[in-house]
Amino acid sequence: MIPEKRPGPHSITARLPSGRCRALSTSAPASGLMRIRPWPAVWEHALVSVLITNIGELITNAPLDAVSVASPGPYAALADAAIVLADGHVAWAGPAAQAPMADSRVDAGGRAVLPGFVDSHAHLVFAGERGAEFAARMAGRPYSAGGIRGTVAATRAAGDDQLRANLARLGAEMLGQGTTTFECKSGYGLTVADEARSVALAAEVTPEVTYLGAHVVPPEFDGDVPGYVELVCGEMLAACAAQARWVDVFCERGAFGADEARAVLRAGESAGLQARVHANQLGPGPGIQVAVEAEAASADHCTFLTDADVDALAASGGTVATLLPGVEFSTRQPYPDARRLLAAGVTVALATDCNPGSCFTSSMPLCIALAVREMHMTTEEAVWAATAGGAHALRRTDVGHLGAGARADLIMLDAPSHAYLAYRPGVPQIAAVWQAGERVA
Ligand code: NIG
Ligand code: FE
Repeated sequence: MIPEKRPGPHSITARLPSGRCRALSTSAPASGLMRIRPWPAVWEHALVSVLITNIGELITNAPLDAVSVASPGPYAALADAAIVLADGHVAWAGPAAQAPMADSRVDAGGRAVLPGFVDSHAHLVFAGERGAEFAARMAGRPYSAGGIRGTVAATRAAGDDQLRANLARLGAEMLGQGTTTFECKSGYGLTVADEARSVALAAEVTPEVTYLGAHVVPPEFDGDVPGYVELVCGEMLAACAAQARWVDVFCERGAFGADEARAVLRAGESAGLQARVHANQLGPGPGIQVAVEAEAASADHCTFLTDADVDALAASGGTVATLLPGVEFSTRQPYPDARRLLAAGVTVALATDCNPGSCFTSSMPLCIALAVREMHMTTEEAVWAATAGGAHALRRTDVGHLGAGARADLIMLDAPSHAYLAYRPGVPQIAAVWQAGERVA
């Protein structure tokens, strides 16, 4: 049973700031499991703290004895747990038997609770779709990033409101699947004006905005790659930098080479942006080395790895390997060797790469299931990579964990353990989502 957002039979006891307690209703659900619903609007501002208790498995990625936790730690989980949310943050987490009082109480009915997913790689500012390209690929044609130009043409032709509506639809889709933080790239505009509006639109929905003017060389610069790189590093960057936090480059044969990628990352850095790189997606190449040299937060894809690439990531001061198994699923490429990266001590994140070409899924649960089934990650490793790993890839300390002091971004599954995310692939299992302490799905 999936608990409903709309009012249903349930029972919540709430205490107003005055200290007066009051039962909000009503009859027990037939199944015996507590239903979950948003707080009645009239109470929303009166409630100060929320206790979620009777949690079958609480994944914290943080030690529970600390008063506050500065950043996501290793995978950590607790059975029979409770958590208190207050002022948009985690105020307390620990054994249910020791839970403090709060202004209101939610009975999780033995369900699992985990940090909201952190999707650190997505391309959501675009128009059009490429379903026929996908179908042709499934019929045997290889993926070539050439289809990007089709999306560029559609995006340039689209009005702001059309792009905004697509962005809102995908953002809502992500939230409903448990993603509470996501990164969003430009990269389908590729003119000064279209890249500037892409980052501006992305900034309306997330603080994690990435300037990807160096996605591919647009048709009007055919035969003049240096001219386009100059634009990306100059006028286009100047028009985008204020709205972005990150600079990215597709370092790949057919897109940008090592020297061009270095130039883009250096220019971005001098405009105050931090680096991330699309690296080694379609074949071996210099992308990972370029990412590590630039001290990028993340090298994304990592589908084709040499020993030197793995060594460079392992020795880096914090370049995360962000794996995007939805891409391999949707392009029929081999999956990246997650076990090799993990064995070398590399920090691994999982993300969707949601885009209309190489992978049109917004589902972190699907990525977790693929990582477990196809990349041999354990269920714990995969869930950590989709939460804490994503936070590391975005250099965020406030998300990806549920230690005291973290942002109260969390998911309740309609299942007793995190393993169900891979055990029941394709089944909607997100029972409830809180973002900064507010019930949002
Ligand atoms: O990350 N590789 C470059 N960019 C996207 C694909 C974009 C597209 O095909 O439209 C990616 O896979
Ligand atoms: Fe991408």
